[in-house]
Amino acid sequence: MCGIVGYVGDKECTPILIEGLRRLEYRGYDSAGVAVFDPSKEGMTISRVVRCRGKLANLENLLRDSKPTGRTGIGHTRWATHGRPSDENAHPHKSGLVSVVHNGIIENHQILRDGLKQKGRVFTSETDTEIIAHLVDEELKVDGKVTLREAVRRALKQVQGAYAIVVMADNMPDQIVAAKNASPLVLGLGDGENFIASDVPAILMHTRKVLFLEEGEIAEVRKTGIEVVDLDGKRVERAPKEITWSAVSAEKAGFKHFMLKEIHEQARAVTDTLRGRLSVEHNDAFLDGIELPDVATLKKITIIACGTSWHAALVGKFMIEQLARIPVEVDLASEYRYREPIITKGDLILAVSQSGETADTLAAIKEAKKQGAYTMCIANVVDSSIPRSCQASLYTHAGPEIGVASTKAFTTQLAALMLLAIHLGRRTKTLKDDRAKALIQEFLTIPHKMADIVGLAGQIQVIARRYGHARDFLFLGRGNNYPIALEGALKLKEISYIHAEGYASGEMKHGPIALIDEAMPVVVIAPKGPGYDKVMSNLQEVKARDGKIIAVCTRGDTDIGSLADECILIPETAPELQPLLTVVPLQLLSYYVADFKGTDVDQPRNLAKSVTVE
Ligand code: G6P
Repeated sequence: MCGIVGYVGDKECTPILIEGLRRLEYRGYDSAGVAVFDPSKEGMTISRVVRCRGKLANLENLLRDSKPTGRTGIGHTRWATHGRPSDENAHPHKSGLVSVVHNGIIENHQILRDGLKQKGRVFTSETDTEIIAHLVDEELKVDGKVTLREAVRRALKQVQGAYAIVVMADNMPDQIVAAKNASPLVLGLGDGENFIASDVPAILMHTRKVLFLEEGEIAEVRKTGIEVVDLDGKRVERAPKEITWSAVSAEKAGFKHFMLKEIHEQARAVTDTLRGRLSVEHNDAFLDGIELPDVATLKKITIIACGTSWHAALVGKFMIEQLARIPVEVDLASEYRYREPIITKGDLILAVSQSGETADTLAAIKEAKKQGAYTMCIANVVDSSIPRSCQASLYTHAGPEIGVASTKAFTTQLAALMLLAIHLGRRTKTLKDDRAKALIQEFLTIPHKMADIVGLAGQIQVIARRYGHARDFLFLGRGNNYPIALEGALKLKEISYIHAEGYASGEMKHGPIALIDEAMPVVVIAPKGPGYDKVMSNLQEVKARDGKIIAVCTRGDTDIGSLADECILIPETAPELQPLLTVVPLQLLSYYVADFKGTDVDQPRNLAKSVTVE
């Protein structure tokens, strides 16, 4: 994610930048920095960059003794994507005249970096952001008369990917330039001063008058005013908006809880997981250059994880076995290392972890590595303990997840596992051209479909109120939707404290059927696809015992309505991708039940976001 701030005006800007960054720390906190114009003795105004690894407090300590005193500046709080958290990778990045802060991912970073190196440019960080600083500086040097805005525009013409950037150039202390594509950026309009930020909370204490930048727009921000153009240099005119939220609700983007905000963020988060990794043209998925063991000799993959990440791992088993035909075992990390697992040298052991810090998962992966396995992880927090212990890491790029109940971390884990499955399937050659093409094309539509499902929140809220008094819930699913039933039950337990069980639909007759009566809501995941008919038979069994059925089913399904009491209709997708969609209504259902009951949704009792003890 990352948080960005910028200021142009008459006030000393370092305190304004730091306060803004504090309000954006929820977007990332592995390093922070500022660049502020400091008038120098020679009459040149150059930017002074102060940055370091760690939370904002570290930067504040650094600034305590020598604070830049200028009136124009930019700041950044980082959530690492390219390059581990370190002093060198912290933003702002400076090249020649130009300082830049960036939120996003540059997809064609390698090609651009190689081209710039050929021109003699020297890189001092591992980030994709530094490329932008070099590109803009090149433009300023090539054409001495070009404006900063125009130099940024020319540079961005070469860039593919997601970005929100703020740029300043030495000797142009009266302006900063901001640009946006896919990552958010808002301009705050003050009186004789103007602000830029990733999100409203950073500027709300200064102004409520804002202009949200749209895709492909570039803004030249001076203390006297703001001018916006598009990527072709054409002027854009738009009236500013007045923000009416309180500072607290602004941090949650107007949502009541972080969990609800994060449910809504999933379309964006999954888009970021896929960014630059999925190619229709090459019919393949790319894993950031990770060199996996040769599939010709790879006999087995073992996935280890805890909690919600374990549910993602269970779905991953379906994905990898179906597409790559490599056997996959899934283990709870807390069990794995105590059962003397059989590890053969060269086995691929994959840890799945949002935090990258879960003690059980970390210990399990260390044990596997000791025994000669090739260790890899899918993680959200860059350079956390688990990625540091593994030979390869595939990051989900979900951004910080604050709600204890995991939502966007889960769906991005599913997306990352699907990328891995496609990648392996293309190499084992079990995923043929036509199927790969269709699957990749469908995969790219998933974020859009997730956003569509989030639009059903109103209907799901009504259902939640209707059944929120129940003492127990049962969740049923088949095949790759069985882990989603487990996840649906876990979500409900975690935040609403209602007892819930997830079951494989076919197993219902071996036990849970005894529990069913008119007081028992049964949530059935029943999208069209393999196993649909069998799930319908299970529904008949529930109905015959007066159970209340809440069905998650495919839009256009006209049969299920006669059996189910409630139908949540979701868009159709490929069977392999269904879990990415079917889980979203279940997240919303548990959220609204918990909200209805008035529990502490973001910090449920007895739970922790990251469990670093055994
Ligand atoms: C805790 C959290 C869960 C999470 C689990 C594993 O129990 O409350 O939401 O799924 O840990 O965490 P990890 O960071 O390894 O995914």
